[in-house]
Amino acid sequence: MTVQRKNKHIFVFGIFAVDISFYVDKKVTPGETIIAKGSNIGPGGKASNQAISAKKLGATTTLITRLGNDNFNNYANDIWRKEKLSTSVKIDRTLPTGMAGIFIDDKTGENSVIVHPGASAHLSMNDFNSHKSKMQNGDIFLTQFEQSPETTFSVLKEARKLGMTTIFNPAPFGKIDRKVYKYCEIITPNETEAEQITNIPLKGKRDVEKAINKIRDLGVEKVIITLGKKGAAVFDGNEITFCPGKKFGKVIDTTGAGDCFNGALASALSFGKDLKQSVEFSCAAAGLSVLKRGTAQSSPTRAELNKALKAIRDFADGITG
Ligand code: RIB
Repeated sequence: MTVQRKNKHIFVFGIFAVDISFYVDKKVTPGETIIAKGSNIGPGGKASNQAISAKKLGATTTLITRLGNDNFNNYANDIWRKEKLSTSVKIDRTLPTGMAGIFIDDKTGENSVIVHPGASAHLSMNDFNSHKSKMQNGDIFLTQFEQSPETTFSVLKEARKLGMTTIFNPAPFGKIDRKVYKYCEIITPNETEAEQITNIPLKGKRDVEKAINKIRDLGVEKVIITLGKKGAAVFDGNEITFCPGKKFGKVIDTTGAGDCFNGALASALSFGKDLKQSVEFSCAAAGLSVLKRGTAQSSPTRAELNKALKAIRDFADGITG
């Protein structure tokens, strides 16, 4: 007999990378050297960021990933230990741990990222299978597109067959095999990725609705398009609604806001919230994450998120009360 857990377990499958970020006031052009305004080294990789975000928000979370046999391996383990994140990690002796170079506009907080998945490029079905016995019908499976398309598609298919709620964050964008959409219960592209999937330029709400409908026609049950500071649009299986973005202060660094959103989404779903409630929760978490430097480092804890939301409610009560 399977004993049902009170809260659903989240399994996040994908890469870890060390992020080396530079805060700059202009884009660097070929042959040019520029002086950065600041720098930061921190944990990154979309899967690790999303897993840390979910865990910081209180969810039972396991990250399945690969590391190289190098110093960054210890760095990753120290971070995960500090966050009390459960992990399933295979060491690759031939490839280095993933690494990313990030440029952040010092004025707007907008970012450009180059990522080398390193050891995680070899993530395969075996990594998934080694954890399969712990995965239960109803649990949540979250993956991105930083490992190979073959592996990404196979794990989504297998997770769906196990009866898990599969969330596919198709970032960075790559060609998606048409057959895969039906294995995604929820897909979470950002505006650019949604445009690439649908070939619809997203200039306004009507375009977003058209894009959601086109993605549904591909076979996905529920669709969320994240819209940066404008929030997110969600089709929850019944209707399309828009959740406005939450602004809590000056934007410092937008890197990883999407990861924070996806981790928060999985976290809220794991506690039994419905999709619209989960998207609201995730918009708030992502809105807080842009106030600090870094990716996983800037994801809020449950206490930080509750405090920020209470401040908004108190402010609103002060106006209306
Ligand atoms: O989404 C941001 C992340 O993308 C960074 O942490 C970087 O490592 C890349 O994976």
